[in-house]
Amino acid sequence: MDRMEVTETFAGISLPGHLHTEESLRFASSFQFRDTDVVIVTYPKSGTTWMQEILTLIHSKGDLEPAKTIPNWARAPWLEHTYFKDMLQETSRPRLITTHLPCQVLAPTLRKSKAKVIYMARNPKDVAVSFYHFHKMAKFLPDPGSFEDFLVRFLEGTGEWYGSWFDHVKGWLSQRAELDLFYITYEDLHQLGRSVERLADWLGCPLQPEESRAIQQHCSFSSMRENAMVNYTLIPCEIMDHSRGRFMRKGIVGDWRDHFTPVQNMRFHKIYQEEMQDSSLRFRWLMD
Ligand code: A3P
Repeated sequence: MDRMEVTETFAGISLPGHLHTEESLRFASSFQFRDTDVVIVTYPKSGTTWMQEILTLIHSKGDLEPAKTIPNWARAPWLEHTYFKDMLQETSRPRLITTHLPCQVLAPTLRKSKAKVIYMARNPKDVAVSFYHFHKMAKFLPDPGSFEDFLVRFLEGTGEWYGSWFDHVKGWLSQRAELDLFYITYEDLHQLGRSVERLADWLGCPLQPEESRAIQQHCSFSSMRENAMVNYTLIPCEIMDHSRGRFMRKGIVGDWRDHFTPVQNMRFHKIYQEEMQDSSLRFRWLMD
């Protein structure tokens, strides 16, 4: 398999070389967005796939056909991935584009368009747990070692994949006045009906009650877990070792409670408060 051991460094962050090259990252950073583009921005493991599924179905007005026949990475391709150019379809309809890139790379080009940006964040404690398990199954990421070691690196934000969670969230949320940005959390999305309707209204695609119901049904964790177009079982074991876990792992809020020791939780609080002191999210997630 290609470049499984390669690390690509761009804008000061490390990215898996299996999915990113210098060329794909340069292409991403100078990409010309259209005013009709809808861009999903997340730090990994924040519910990206869930959002891709919801937006696919809002655009199709609850028609399940695309969600059941086209993999998520083809419906809402990652801007920075090597295959992006091939996947991006020439269409006059709004294009769904996904990215994990930090704000300093993309905000300058996004500001030149009226593209709609959805920034989705998740409790960083649950992100850390989900990312830890993902590292175990994704062969293009390094072995995470113990959860303690992984958490130290995650909280320091140094030498870790995709850069610091804190910088990602703070950076993107600082663009709220500059971009057409809709901020939503993974925790909000657990109130699925309300979130789907808010998103649909903001996108200018209001839904009929039966369309909204179809979306909610299809986007439940149990339904998505069985859908091969989003559960990543299409990816061969040489790239994702499915014997080491499932991509659709638990899908719950507060899983960190089963992983964090009291000492780890105290350390998290201290770093969170230091990092987020000037942010509107300074109290968010401390007790969740
Ligand atoms: P867990 O590992 O905690 O289960 P991403 O798509 O950004 O990689 O995020 C993956 C996380 O989102 C996983 O979290 C996955 O289970 C969760 N997820 C995906 N679809 C979901 C859904 N329909 N409901 C709840 N959680 C979902």
